[in-house]
Amino acid sequence: MAASELNTGLTFRQDYFADPAAWVGLVALLEDTFGIDVGIQDCFGGPDPTSMPFAYFDENGVCVANFSAFSMPVMIDGRLVKAAGFQSGAVRPQWRGRGLYRDLMNRAFGWCDAQGFELGLLLTDKPSMYEPYGFKVLPQHRFIGVPPAEAKSAGRSRALSIESADDAALIRQMLHERMPVSSVFAVAAQVEMFLLNSVFDTDVCLSYLEEHEAIVAWKAEGTSFHLLDAAGKAMPPLSAILSALAQNPDSVEVCFSPDKLGWQGTAEPFVSDISLMVRGNSAERLSAPVMLSPMAEF
Ligand SMILES: CC(C)(COP(=O)(O)OP(=O)(O)OC[C@H]1O[C@@H](n2cnc3c(N)ncnc32)[C@H](O)[C@@H]1OP(=O)(O)O)[C@@H](O)C(=O)NCCC(=O)NCCS
Repeated sequence: MAASELNTGLTFRQDYFADPAAWVGLVALLEDTFGIDVGIQDCFGGPDPTSMPFAYFDENGVCVANFSAFSMPVMIDGRLVKAAGFQSGAVRPQWRGRGLYRDLMNRAFGWCDAQGFELGLLLTDKPSMYEPYGFKVLPQHRFIGVPPAEAKSAGRSRALSIESADDAALIRQMLHERMPVSSVFAVAAQVEMFLLNSVFDTDVCLSYLEEHEAIVAWKAEGTSFHLLDAAGKAMPPLSAILSALAQNPDSVEVCFSPDKLGWQGTAEPFVSDISLMVRGNSAERLSAPVMLSPMAEF
């Protein structure tokens, strides 16, 4: 039975982000549940316009439960797949255990099926909750190895700050124009999560590679260089990235399938409390080791 029929006194709302008070209600739910402030997105143009939130509000306008879908096209095995991500799943403690989330999951997955999404993706620490809906855990791998030989021409780079309006505009432009970082598995188009993750993880460095017209998200940890993501019209080779960033590490860790980097690493299981789950036939073509870029985490 749908939660709306359970005499909860709650109001079901869908696609409500145009109402600023309702958006603030979701921001508060996520702050109270996860301790994160997604309201910061208001500084970058607001939430993902493709978002389709499903929620319950009480008589005071408090958002007591939410689950959102959003469009996140992905490249799988050389083919662009119409995929949806699911995020912002939360129910306020006093409303848990009454089937509200079951109701919202059914609505969100049903809506995506009706829209013709071929693939569903989500990240969760509760994989068993999504298995009844056809989601399966997709093991993730990082790619680790020694750096490539130095690139012949170094090229130049400059550091970007998400707090600079000009830099933020450049980052947005690069993300809109980007080629997927991998043909094996990569997010093809997603802007808001990249920006949000740049703000949430203050250790992430963003650099613009001028000759390649690409931005690179990276971290240096000791003598190891971590490549998190790259966005541009073409993918610079790893050797050019390291040279342009003046990085000379002992080892390299790439957090996405490195097939376009002109470099090969060894796939090593990525151990995390958070599982990547996928649902849909396209997921069956995912046989090679893959990883969702940390900049696309949602
Ligand atoms: C997880 C959460 C959203 C569940 O909300 P809820 O309204 O209590 O869930 P429901 O009562 O609708 O239960 C839906 C189903 O999920 C199952 N479920 C609930 N909590 C679960 C958990 N922690 N682990 C596994 N399954 C769970 C229920 O048994 C139920 O299964 P059924 O349909 O087979 O009976 C809520 O506890 C919450 O907000 N937790 C904190 C934030 C969080 O973890 N969000 C999920 C992020 S992936």
